[in-house]
Amino acid sequence: MSSILLRNIKLLVNTANPQSALRGTALAELQSLENAWLIVEDGRIAGFGSSDQLPAALPASTIDVTGKMLLPAWCDSHTHLVFAASREEEYVDKIKGLSYSDIAAKGGGILNSAKKLNAASEDELFGLAWQRLQEIMQMGTGAVEIKSGYGLTPDSELKMLRVIRKLKEKSPIPVKATFLGAHTYPQEFRENHEGYISQIIQEMLPAIADGKLADYIDVFCEQNFFSPEETERICLAGMQYGLKPKIHANQLSLSGGTETGVKLGAISVDHLETMDDHAINTLAASSTIGTLLPTAAFFLRMPFQPARKLIDSGCAIALATDYNPGSSPSGNMNLVVSMACTGMKMLPEEAINAATINGAFAMELDKDYGSIAVGKKANFILTKPVPSLAYLPYAFGQSQIEKVMISGEWI
Ligand code: NIG
Ligand code: FE
Repeated sequence: MSSILLRNIKLLVNTANPQSALRGTALAELQSLENAWLIVEDGRIAGFGSSDQLPAALPASTIDVTGKMLLPAWCDSHTHLVFAASREEEYVDKIKGLSYSDIAAKGGGILNSAKKLNAASEDELFGLAWQRLQEIMQMGTGAVEIKSGYGLTPDSELKMLRVIRKLKEKSPIPVKATFLGAHTYPQEFRENHEGYISQIIQEMLPAIADGKLADYIDVFCEQNFFSPEETERICLAGMQYGLKPKIHANQLSLSGGTETGVKLGAISVDHLETMDDHAINTLAASSTIGTLLPTAAFFLRMPFQPARKLIDSGCAIALATDYNPGSSPSGNMNLVVSMACTGMKMLPEEAINAATINGAFAMELDKDYGSIAVGKKANFILTKPVPSLAYLPYAFGQSQIEKVMISGEWI
């Protein structure tokens, strides 16, 4: 049995073990312990407490972390990190003034990624995604959700989901898989929505269920993409196979995605850049989590999500990266937390809760991840010596991470 004691932890952050996602004023309550110790045994948290009450029997292996903080690793509940190629040429086109539709007309956007993914082999895609997974772990991510949606044909969607399954099998951090066949209409189905929807429902979903390739179903509910009615139909079909909805909602417009997600009992509705009172109140009255993706808003030069209003209205809020080549080519949760504080006026405590325990709830991983509780997995961020908790989002763009522990091992 391997056992390690971390002692003289300046601040042991997020020691709560809530039974449901935090909302309203509870989001700002970040239970933490000053001057603490923690014991890891066989990859899990065996105990923790305050330094003046050290247990009698101590493990042989002891690490003194004076001046440093220990946080639960980030739980990134929304990514598209399987993709074949970056899209910086579109980024430059946008700088030069081209619009989203100009870029789409040039063959850019999601269809550009789909074309490249179609041409890539499963091994190539796995290699690229594996590299990205290592990078986000180094930046403190200890649990992640990954979507398909750059395949857009039965063969390619299944290929993407098999890559995600292989990541799941090999990854030291938990991976949740989401089927996002309804990301956009492929060119040949532009004028034949029914044709693509029936391909999703009749061909893709049965094969995905058969191979147990997904945990969740997602739809890009947006004007010129999938309508609320189409979203509902696709999600209900997925739910028949046990896939719970986690949907893209209210990114570019008041799409009705939030209301549709709540009606379906979605685990989460994600993005939420464009919200009105009806959408906010509907979300607040539900158990669906609102997942905010500030780096996507930043990268698309859109107004940030109205986090203050959402929290103050009582919504449960999580934070995630949306890591993808089109709208958020970054999987850095530290930057997300900082942007949430600076751009959306979330308190550091709120942002850290939203990026840890609420992210875990948004992936149904809360029993084992997202906070410091006895029995949970030992997935941690050990900071460099830092003056205070608020210093983490304040000192943006500079890593404050000294080391990351996954399942009791430093990586
Ligand atoms: O979450 N909004 C839809 N999908 C992605 C971006 C897709 C892309 O441009 O590749 C997102 O932002
Ligand atoms: Fe997304």
